[in-house]
Amino acid sequence: MKKLLTTILSLGLAASAALAANPAITAVKVSDSLDTIKADSAAWSKAKFETVILYPQTAIEFNDKKANALVANAKGKKAQVAALHDGKNIAIMVKWADKTKDVEQCMSSDVYTDGFAVQFAGATKKAQPLPYIGMGSEGRPVVVHLQKATAKVYEPNGNKDVSTQINRQQTGVFGKELADFDAKVASLANTDYERVFVGEGFRSLTEVKDKSIKSNGAMVHGPAGWSGTLSRPLKDEYVNLNGTVPVSIAVWDGSSMGRNGLKNLSSWVAINLEGQKANSAMVGELTTDAKGDAAKGKEAAATNGCTGCHQMTAADAPSLLGPSLKNVGGYSTAEYLRESILKPSAVVVPGYNRNAHANTPWYNIEKGKRVSTMTDFSFLDKATVDDIVAYLKTLKSEVE
Ligand code: HEC
Repeated sequence: MKKLLTTILSLGLAASAALAANPAITAVKVSDSLDTIKADSAAWSKAKFETVILYPQTAIEFNDKKANALVANAKGKKAQVAALHDGKNIAIMVKWADKTKDVEQCMSSDVYTDGFAVQFAGATKKAQPLPYIGMGSEGRPVVVHLQKATAKVYEPNGNKDVSTQINRQQTGVFGKELADFDAKVASLANTDYERVFVGEGFRSLTEVKDKSIKSNGAMVHGPAGWSGTLSRPLKDEYVNLNGTVPVSIAVWDGSSMGRNGLKNLSSWVAINLEGQKANSAMVGELTTDAKGDAAKGKEAAATNGCTGCHQMTAADAPSLLGPSLKNVGGYSTAEYLRESILKPSAVVVPGYNRNAHANTPWYNIEKGKRVSTMTDFSFLDKATVDDIVAYLKTLKSEVE
């Protein structure tokens, strides 16, 4: 009887563990060259999709009331993610449901667009904890590939070639000449919004415009929602991807104010390059649950005053003294949470909003460095920290 009970219990635990952490993804090795792969390329038939959960980023208050209201009720989103590699490039496909197609139109700035981003950890000289999700942190660079949905713009903007800025009916040409005109306009038309950024923390996210990062992104909308694809070299001057590649995925929904409001993002997810030696420590970190006791951790968070500065669940009043932690378990690794408790200044959460939190700064500048105003909890014993981390990992909204 006892044995049966433990079996049932361990089965239950295994099931909840499977629900909690994102699985590792295998980047299937293919012989097709991936540098120009599209969403409809045949190579994707070999891909193995896994479900990754993207949680609403709710750490900071916005200035905009409507954005705050949208974020307050936001849910987690499921995405299907697969990867391929050809030894030189990695290709990633992200599929997610989105009923409304919000596309950037010519000249309009009042439409929020759907979009997605894939973030890679930048190459560093020594092994580092993974960078802060979203924009990296000091000494831990990231490379972010961002793609937005854009419509075809008829008149090529900024091209200064007046000969292509007229209606085709007014060209006065026919047949092949008209076809050539159409082709020229199409080739000049601004149809793609694709940007690559590198960052090492708050305010450092800068666009790479010199083409030193190759990026091939695209988005296709169908009945089930969006499919976004991206391919990039495994190695360039910014990244050196081998064995296990950690990535983080974000999606924006234009109808929820897109980039200005709600963003859903995943924690770091491990992608193993087929045929290469996986980094088992990293795979373990990213695919297994935190080891502590979450119920004890909840008590420890209350007795140690964490709840005085942080909103832990949607039911708690928002606190201006620190970021909201109500989804922190959804997009943070256990290691990051441990570091936040033991060394608050190692990563100072970016995006602190001076308007929303005017009298309660999250950091002070000391000798040119940001020093967190969070209490240093390095005095806590290891078991208590494990318990608190396990509790923080449970903090996340329901999934759509
Ligand atoms: C005096 C207020 C205060 C207390 C008490 C406090 N924190 Fe914080 N915490 C902050 C501030 C401010 C930040 C943002 C600056 C930074 O990154 O350190 C923060 C950041 C964090 C983050 C990073 C959040 C993110 O979005 O990445 C975590 C996790 C965290 N705290 C957990 C805790 C836990 C667990 C406790 C209790 C053991 C605690 N905090 C106690 C003020 C506090």
